[in-house]
Amino acid sequence: MAGRSVVVGVGHYLPERVVPNTEFEQTLDTSDEWIRTRSGIERRHFAADDETTSDLATKAAEAALKDAGLEASDIDAIVLATSTADLTFPSAATMVQARLGMTNGFAFDVQAVCAGFVFALSNANALILSGQAKRVLVIGAETFSRIMDWSDRSTCVLFGDGAGALVLEAQDGNGSSDDRGILSTDLNSDGRYKDLLYVDGGVSTQSTGHLRMQGNQVFRHAVEKLAKTAETALGRAGLTSGDVDWIVPHQANIRIIQGTAKKMGLPMENVVVTVQDHGNTSAASIPLALSVGKERGQIKPGDLIVTEAIGGGLAWGAVVLRW
Ligand code: UT7
Repeated sequence: MAGRSVVVGVGHYLPERVVPNTEFEQTLDTSDEWIRTRSGIERRHFAADDETTSDLATKAAEAALKDAGLEASDIDAIVLATSTADLTFPSAATMVQARLGMTNGFAFDVQAVCAGFVFALSNANALILSGQAKRVLVIGAETFSRIMDWSDRSTCVLFGDGAGALVLEAQDGNGSSDDRGILSTDLNSDGRYKDLLYVDGGVSTQSTGHLRMQGNQVFRHAVEKLAKTAETALGRAGLTSGDVDWIVPHQANIRIIQGTAKKMGLPMENVVVTVQDHGNTSAASIPLALSVGKERGQIKPGDLIVTEAIGGGLAWGAVVLRW
């Protein structure tokens, strides 16, 4: 027998306001055509002025709990991946904990930018496997619209707001790759690449700052590192790309998604793609895609999934799980 962290619920929330590419044509030297062909993005959601990351996260968490048929009191821990928490402190996770009416257990944020959800899943899995928690709510939630430089066409057209959540539960497996749940993880970072993607402000530098990115440099790292981390994680589970039913990638750019699938030898029929509707929602993009993929009828119980993401740090990684 082996302990496994099994997904028993999934949900998401997107802010009401949908912004099509054409809206940027009014204020920037850009076009719907450029944004679509270079990134695959057609529209994104932006949070209302009074809507915060913990608001989006709470709604996604409620949807995941409902899907699992569980109450907040059934949860031992909340791990929330975000780079855009409401306040410097406390964590957005503890704010969600209060909003859900959860008075037991513990909650904390994980900050690994666009790779945040993969890092959060890996941490939640470790909490479960070490016996520190039985059920963990793992959330990715972001309001990247708050850190955009609206005069920088090379970044502000790419990002969106949203949240997604999973409920992980400790269950017994037989220790083989046929088990449901998380089968393996692979986490990486390399701080030497800080200047490729960062926010030029923060608490200790006394400002909020704006997102800065050398997009084409990040692009180059992305395809190579994403295929490698996915294959490393698959190898740790005794699996190969040929076993994969769905790649659920971080949704930053359709060309990165296509390049990674190609490197892994998988057709686009095996990839859940939501980038056209959500843009890049950073740590929220994978749980959003898992939730939408399930809603669309793509992801079914027993399917083998590999998630992979890269972002600021650089930080990147992958998680292999059976749904
Ligand atoms: O989630 C975290 C990880 N982030 C990513 O994975 C993002 C990775 N990078 C990308 O997705 C792509 O690099 C971009 C979509 C950001 C850019 O695509 P690209 O094919 O790498 O284009 P580029 O940066 O090489 O720029 C090509 C041209 C430039 O003009 P010149 O120098 O060739 O004259 C840019 O100034 O496109 C120009 N450009 C734009 N033109 C119209 C940049 N942004 C825009 C724009 N509209 N919005």
